[in-house]
Amino acid sequence: MSQSAVLDGAAPPQDLAAVSDSLFRRDMLACLRERPRRISPKYFYDAEGSLLFDRICELPEYYPTRTELGLLTRHATRIAQLIGARAEIVEFGAGSLRKIRLLLDALEAPARYLPIDISGEHLAACAATLRGDYPALEVTPVVADYTRRLLLPAVTGPGRRVGFFPGSTIGNFTPDEALRFLTLAAQTLRGGGLLIGADLVKDPDVLHAAYNDAQGVTAAFNLNLLARANRELGADFDTGRFAHAAFYNAPLQRIEMHLMSLCAQQVRIGDECFDFAEGESMHTENSCKFTIDSLRALARQAGFEPGPVWTDPQRMFSLHWLRAPD
Ligand code: TRP
Repeated sequence: MSQSAVLDGAAPPQDLAAVSDSLFRRDMLACLRERPRRISPKYFYDAEGSLLFDRICELPEYYPTRTELGLLTRHATRIAQLIGARAEIVEFGAGSLRKIRLLLDALEAPARYLPIDISGEHLAACAATLRGDYPALEVTPVVADYTRRLLLPAVTGPGRRVGFFPGSTIGNFTPDEALRFLTLAAQTLRGGGLLIGADLVKDPDVLHAAYNDAQGVTAAFNLNLLARANRELGADFDTGRFAHAAFYNAPLQRIEMHLMSLCAQQVRIGDECFDFAEGESMHTENSCKFTIDSLRALARQAGFEPGPVWTDPQRMFSLHWLRAPD
């Protein structure tokens, strides 16, 4: 029990798989019943989706991961000074635990690392590898949906608690959700800070390519949502009859991802049947782009005090240090 988090303050961890299955069912059914159809991108990340996402991060067109890793490498010393010694690092949506290594290598005697991720199997495997590489570090994986209220174990060390939220995942929230998440994070991280990555507005062609890679990995990632519904919910999506569609919505400064029905068809889950017209879509993700000022304004609204910002010479991506309130 020591390595567990509590979802919504209710479900014991051994029930987490069942809880997340029924939430996926509930949200997928709600998506299929409503118009326009939309579902939270958090459901992309089953074990298969997490692996596909790792491949996205390696794609030549997908510049954010590379650029952010470069910023972390280049500014690690300064970032480590801001974080301070013996800190406890909480990572929201930790994925494969690759970026944290750059921080851990620069930090002075980090006390504990709490990676939070919704993808339990994937997290457990990556946490085991990390423990092997950092034997002095206490690694406490937390399988949870960080978009909900979560209870973290109390801070154990003498250092500060610092959040790490890379990958511009903040852009996958709606503006309201982003503000709510940051407001909660400011409370969770009181006395410490948040290191957050945010992708920047830029030439739409560059953005378009990043979400429409030539190898089709992003398409496979998007379509995996339907395959997951088939595996876990007994749905009968024909993944060959849906297409990945991603485009830049310039007025809203965001990439939108959809799954578009290529023909008129019906999909069944249990005894419920859903009609798709040709060209009708399910909206699966937004990836909002920021300016340095818009991210800082959002942070301020949530109660943080924006500190230093690092960006690459081409201003592709930004990394921000935000001080949490005392
Ligand atoms: N946070 C990432 C982003 O918005 C997530 C992401 C990248 C993503 N590529 C994707 C999500 C493709 C779904 C599909 O860039």
